[in-house]
Amino acid sequence: MAIKHFLQFSDFTLDEFEYLFERAHLIKRKFKNYEPHHTLLDRTLVMVFEKNSTRTRLSFEAGMHQLGGAAIYLNTRDSQLGRGEPVEDAAQVMSRMCDIIMIRTFGQDIIDRFAANSRVPVINGLTNEHHPCQVLADVFTYIEHRGSIVGKTVAWIGDANNMLYSWLQAAQVFGFHVNVSTPKGYDIDPSLVTANKSRYTVFGDPSDACVGADLVTTDVWTSMGFEAENAARLQAFDGWIVDSAKMRCAHPDALFMHCLPAHRGEEVAAEVIDGPQSVVWDEAENRLHVQKALLEYLV
Ligand code: CP
Repeated sequence: MAIKHFLQFSDFTLDEFEYLFERAHLIKRKFKNYEPHHTLLDRTLVMVFEKNSTRTRLSFEAGMHQLGGAAIYLNTRDSQLGRGEPVEDAAQVMSRMCDIIMIRTFGQDIIDRFAANSRVPVINGLTNEHHPCQVLADVFTYIEHRGSIVGKTVAWIGDANNMLYSWLQAAQVFGFHVNVSTPKGYDIDPSLVTANKSRYTVFGDPSDACVGADLVTTDVWTSMGFEAENAARLQAFDGWIVDSAKMRCAHPDALFMHCLPAHRGEEVAAEVIDGPQSVVWDEAENRLHVQKALLEYLV
């Protein structure tokens, strides 16, 4: 039987997501009530990080521990991957010692090669092209707060990045619409879009993209820690900040999400991220619950 991986959002069907969300709700309740839920007793997750992380590492490591298993952290600094060991060889070895693997790496081609050589399931913890675990938590969070996401409108305000491409795949699977507004020069790469064209609309003006939206979401303009190298981006993104004026264009019940970390005063105004429509802390917490359901399902 073929091994099931989660490398892109579109790797799972609607039925699979519905099952995962049902499990995630149950797991969340057990977690909140301090009830044991050791469904992965004696199982091992290896986490490979070629890029920095707070939420992804913490949610996978804590999640595996709470499920009764163990999580091992590797990075390129102190593993042979950083010294040129081929990913194909690393995948062969890791998958003989562990039950499941999570990788945060650069190109999607790297994770695809890794998965092709693994005997156990591989989860995408972020690549340049996709961030499926984050959008899994985001859709779960929307449903938790507002009910079904079917037929709703998500406004994406920012550059076309891994989050947007995963949102577009989610729109195709769940049946919602994405209003996309990207600054000039940071627009969608059609080769990375698998969603049907009817699932999204591109707007030149970010305020127009927010009109009537049920959810407004954005991401950092410059990666945390690389601010000095990205002065040009700040200029190009002028006007794309999600502030209260843009939130007023959205549906009065609209939610605000951000995958974090955030730069207040750049992509989002403090009054929005710290305001009543923001669900960013639930969104971050839900990484834990949905990924525990994902680990359980794949193992
Ligand atoms: N949102 C997210 O993936 O956060 P980290 O980079 O901290 O893992």
